[in-house]
Amino acid sequence: MNVIRVKNADEGGKKAFEIIKEGIENGAEVFGLATGSTPETMYSYMIASDLDFSDKVSINLDEYVGLSGEDDQSYRYFMNKHLFNEKPFKETFVPNGKAEDLEAECKHYDTIIAEHPIDIQVLGIGQNGHIGFNEPGTPFDATTQVVELTESTINANKRYFEKVEDVPTRALSMGIGSIMKSKKIILMAFGEAKADAVKGMIDGEVTTDLPASVLQNHEDVVVIIDEAAASKL
Ligand code: GLP
Repeated sequence: MNVIRVKNADEGGKKAFEIIKEGIENGAEVFGLATGSTPETMYSYMIASDLDFSDKVSINLDEYVGLSGEDDQSYRYFMNKHLFNEKPFKETFVPNGKAEDLEAECKHYDTIIAEHPIDIQVLGIGQNGHIGFNEPGTPFDATTQVVELTESTINANKRYFEKVEDVPTRALSMGIGSIMKSKKIILMAFGEAKADAVKGMIDGEVTTDLPASVLQNHEDVVVIIDEAAASKL
């Protein structure tokens, strides 16, 4: 793992953007993207840049079950708002949280990933070490699946909802097996709430108890962390 320490989320987003830019110069065409507050600064730098994504493809990690893309809490809505409306891509994929047959939607998403191998995957990390919505205990070879969110994740994400009861309890998530097939991975983590997860990911044993620790087995991972997220290293 190549660990880069930065002062704050702004500097971290800029660093991640520079890696994306370099990736494009080297022919990257498919970008695995993440939601959450963490990648917001990176998206701002992408929007402000003159980089052209109109011939690029994006594949997002996850979506809440039950929310449509028009719902302002959905990850499709988040991506449109924070990136795609300002910086159009050729094609953008986000799992369909309203699919009637969720298992079929998972298979369909795996086909999309297989047809568009991911050049650069962007990740945040949950306080319990989850990546995407792959919660502790998820097998490392999993493909896209329906996941039950843990209490820790529901509590961490409730800040976006009016009340905790409104937070969906299930999500569709790209699996760890698919994430690990990406050619390059950029994981960003900012703030003290991520310090334990970051410590486990970098220094701990590789265990499904802390999903992000699997990244120790990937040969091209850049971890971008601010001082607070690095405080337990
Ligand atoms: C959610 C998302 C993850 C994200 C995590 C951290 O659970 N599914 O992809 O990394 O939250 O979110 P934040 O960046 O807001 O801390």
